[in-house]
Amino acid sequence: MASARVMQRVRTVSALRRAMAPWRSQALRIGFVPTMGAIHDGHLSLVRRARRTCDRVVASLFVNPLQFGPTEDFARYPRPIHEDRAKFAGAGVDLLWEPAIAGIYPAGDRTRVHVSGLTDAFEGAARPGHFEGVTTVVLRLLNAVQPDELWLGQKDAQQAMVIERMVADLLLPVRVRRGATVRMRDGLALSSRNAYLGAGERAQAVALSLGLRAARAHLVAGERSAARIAAAVRGVWRRHPLVHEDYVAVVDAATMAPLRTVRGRVLVAVAARVGPARLIDNFEWSGR
Ligand code: PAJ
Repeated sequence: MASARVMQRVRTVSALRRAMAPWRSQALRIGFVPTMGAIHDGHLSLVRRARRTCDRVVASLFVNPLQFGPTEDFARYPRPIHEDRAKFAGAGVDLLWEPAIAGIYPAGDRTRVHVSGLTDAFEGAARPGHFEGVTTVVLRLLNAVQPDELWLGQKDAQQAMVIERMVADLLLPVRVRRGATVRMRDGLALSSRNAYLGAGERAQAVALSLGLRAARAHLVAGERSAARIAAAVRGVWRRHPLVHEDYVAVVDAATMAPLRTVRGRVLVAVAARVGPARLIDNFEWSGR
């Protein structure tokens, strides 16, 4: 019989270290799932994946001010803390870390982590400073938790790529793993920001995944022109007037370099504004 575990909750780094000390002395394998809360099945799928590959799972809940631009949604980002805790506990998180802002950014803080090149285009271009905020916080979270595995979602493909680059470049002793994008029945990728959509907008937001499905069908049928694959996405979006393109990218899945002709592993990534929400989605394709 599996023993029922109780989720511990901590706020400070020292309490986090105390809670993890017994696991370390037993050399248990630790998986880590960083989040900004407003927890949905996409987040929980990462917890479940980590449970399968690790002995203990640590999750963090921290709405990181540094990764939001001055006009972005930091203040109104959803914070359903009690529901979030219950969802984490239900999915089998062993330890939930809820740091305070001053615990992550101590007084006098001056240090930033910048991954160059990979952060210039797409999400980086649309959201100046965003990835520096992400890498700066993720390095701090990793230093505090010191997990064996870091679980990230494919939904944020560029973020995963940037973090993988940072981990490799800084020789961080952690294995980065990606979980597949979890979707609603109609295909819309789960996102905390879907909560901003009104009913009409929600209905049209499906255009992101429908457009990607059209792009995939072109790839499967043998199309190799990046322009025509992008046009397939835009063809779907034209039928959804509430969907306003930010970008449609057909890029090398390892480097994010734009492609004219698809060969090898390709990432098709899209971003669009739908009412008050800015939504992203993507898929990777490697010839199958
Ligand atoms: P957040 O948006 O809360 O996402 C936390 C993790 O869940 C990320 O790795 C993200 O890619 C993953 N995720 C989100 N939606 C998903 C979906 N539909 N399917 C699968 N995985 C999904 O990403 C962040 O927070 C932050 O930038 C963070 C890495 C925590 C740093 O602050």
